[in-house]
Amino acid sequence: MSSTFQAPKGVKEYVPPQAEVFQAVRAAFAEQARLAGYGYLELPVFEDTNLFKRGVGESTDVVSKEMYTFEDRGGRSLTLRPEFTASVLRAVLEHNLHRQGGLPVKVWTTGPAFRAEAPQAGRYRQFYQLDLEAIGSEDPQVDAETIAIAAGWYRSLGLTRVRLLLNSLGCRECRPAYRALLQDFLRGLDLDEATRARIEINPLRVLDDKRPHVRAQLAGAPLMADHLCAACKAHHDTVRSLLADLGIAWEDTPTLVRGLDYYTRTTYEFDHPLLGAQSGIGGGGRYDGLSEDIGGPELPGIGFGLGLDRTILALEAEGVAFDAAPRCEVFGVALGEEAGRRVFALVAELRRAGVAADLAFGGKRLKGAMKDADRSGARFAVILGERDLAAGEAQVKELATGEQTAVPLTAIVPTLTERLSR
Ligand code: HAM
Repeated sequence: MSSTFQAPKGVKEYVPPQAEVFQAVRAAFAEQARLAGYGYLELPVFEDTNLFKRGVGESTDVVSKEMYTFEDRGGRSLTLRPEFTASVLRAVLEHNLHRQGGLPVKVWTTGPAFRAEAPQAGRYRQFYQLDLEAIGSEDPQVDAETIAIAAGWYRSLGLTRVRLLLNSLGCRECRPAYRALLQDFLRGLDLDEATRARIEINPLRVLDDKRPHVRAQLAGAPLMADHLCAACKAHHDTVRSLLADLGIAWEDTPTLVRGLDYYTRTTYEFDHPLLGAQSGIGGGGRYDGLSEDIGGPELPGIGFGLGLDRTILALEAEGVAFDAAPRCEVFGVALGEEAGRRVFALVAELRRAGVAADLAFGGKRLKGAMKDADRSGARFAVILGERDLAAGEAQVKELATGEQTAVPLTAIVPTLTERLSR
């Protein structure tokens, strides 16, 4: 019987052993970010509501329908972050990181994000992202670097089925003309009221409509890729050739439109074919106008947000046995009170020596304690009975083989450290 309470609807939480995989997957990302010179940021979970309205865009579903907004006791409107990019840029500007050294400012962060979506497999109201941003450079090498970091992380986890979908959304020079052209085309189609309204507010999103009768009509729609200005086209061609140099495969996807308003030029998504409807396991792109949108200087940027929850689902779907670091390497088993005190101290000593160690609590009998030892996943059990204690030794048992040897109590820590390193 569980308690009266359950976690709120649609939130994703992790408990052992899956939580250890979660942590290890996140640690693997931290390593990729470190290798590429990205510093870590720790940011608030809520922000001024207007940051997201102005940054992410009021016409997006994320802002208009999915934000958890509340008033604090001082009457300020705050919102649980639905994404990280606007917060990262806000923090970079607020702390003047863009004035403290060479550009781009390279940072990453992680934690929960919140969107009031209809929950389903892979879609949660509290979910986890790994977010990485490079702010202050227009160099296409930076675009390719971010993609390479994400791709390198997926590879390091052992995922082999991840697809990279790539597009360019143009810039403030070439997009307005394309947008008008697209609107003209869309206005001529047979669409419902809500979609017709969308044509006027955010026509590019209509290209993303998944309904078959809409899809069928979109076949001849003009595509941004065919209307890029010379500078955007050159930028896009360079990004693609850099990816080719790095041996990263991608699929040109001219219909790829992202759900947030700030994107310009390079946009991409990582997709996993085994995840069904929620197959987007990560996404990102340039946001060269976002800084000005939130009242900052002209400061181009690019980055991505990778969905940790969906990545873990992808690992499960591909059957990748992701080895988290063992929770326990040595398990202490004592028979009798005096032996119990010695084992308790021995376990503390093992931990000080860097060995993950645990023990049976509650004065269990041998059979129950050995069951705990097996369940712990430890490689060795240290068993101390009253006779061992009198002889000044303990039994070290390798749990997989059952092989057991007597080791002097004073030599337990060095012996186990040595045997664990073999
Ligand atoms: P996004 O595509 O909205 O982009 O989210 C990034 C990733 O977060 C998605 O690909 C997905 O894996 C995961 N995700 C989003 N919503 C949910 C949900 N409700 N449940 C589970 N997972 C979810 C952004 O958020 C941008 N800020 C990315 C970015 C960074 N662009 C530039 N810099």
